[in-house]
Amino acid sequence: MMQIISTVAELRLALNNKSNTGFVPTMGNLHAGHIHLVNLAKQHSDCVVVSIFVNPLQFGVNEDLANYPRTLEADCEKLKAAGCDIVFTATVREMYPQMTQTAEGTQLNQSMTIQPPDIANDLCGASRPGHFAGVATVVAKLFNIVHPQTAFFGKKDFQQLFIIRELVKQLNYPIQIIAGETVRETSGLALSSRNGYLSDAKKQQAAQLNQALQTIAQAIQAQNFEFDSLENAAKTKLNAAGWQVDYVTVRSALSLLPATPADRHLVILAAAKIGNTRLIDNIELSL
Ligand code: PAJ
Repeated sequence: MMQIISTVAELRLALNNKSNTGFVPTMGNLHAGHIHLVNLAKQHSDCVVVSIFVNPLQFGVNEDLANYPRTLEADCEKLKAAGCDIVFTATVREMYPQMTQTAEGTQLNQSMTIQPPDIANDLCGASRPGHFAGVATVVAKLFNIVHPQTAFFGKKDFQQLFIIRELVKQLNYPIQIIAGETVRETSGLALSSRNGYLSDAKKQQAAQLNQALQTIAQAIQAQNFEFDSLENAAKTKLNAAGWQVDYVTVRSALSLLPATPADRHLVILAAAKIGNTRLIDNIELSL
């Protein structure tokens, strides 16, 4: 029987006698990428907890917090089928009792937050100020509520995964982080709740983002280490195809800093808007 729990107190009670909990934090609107993480959690844990919480703290004022797809009933059906034990569906009031939300945005009112390292201000953090502080804060809170032995995050959000690993390392959480591979459409498009904003035609076009990364990966594998010109060519091509490119960049997968030809483990990351929808993707590459 899958339990659906919406308060911290009840969740703590339900987890009281559990010693091997696997945890998958999500914002809901679940797709095969999320379910892949649930399946991984099933393999590693006796009790699988999935949280569904659209975290206001990680959305900027002009972002899609109000429109973010909320599909709790369908999500619970998928989680039940996947063998999830507990769904935690916290409300904003439960997670942030101090916080108020106004038309101007989220007022934190003396809430405690986690300040992530500088790398959180680069890449997605450069165009989404405060985003990763919001992610780190909610994930820290959820870790403190759930006390999992293992927690599961997707490589699709590579920078997020990197920052969560730093959170666990630097704040000494006794939690093993396990990364799930990115689940994609056959076109190469990475599954994302935000793909739901796209028309069928735009969804077809959206595969261009992954193709741009593939082109760079192939060039690097063919010993082209002119990262700047590879990045610029990809940006030019995407912009010409109607995208608004935020970044396309080759980084060290170990530090997330700009890659040098000496790096053996690379990650090529991109973020770009198609219409009003901002999509991200990345490919890891070991030489
Ligand atoms: P959300 O976007 O719902 O994603 C939840 C988890 O699913 C994240 O670890 C994400 O990397 C993973 N995921 C998303 N798309 C995926 C795909 N196509 N393949 C594999 N994994 C995928 O990420 C968040 O929520 C939030 O920031 C959260 C961590 C829950 C904090 O609020």
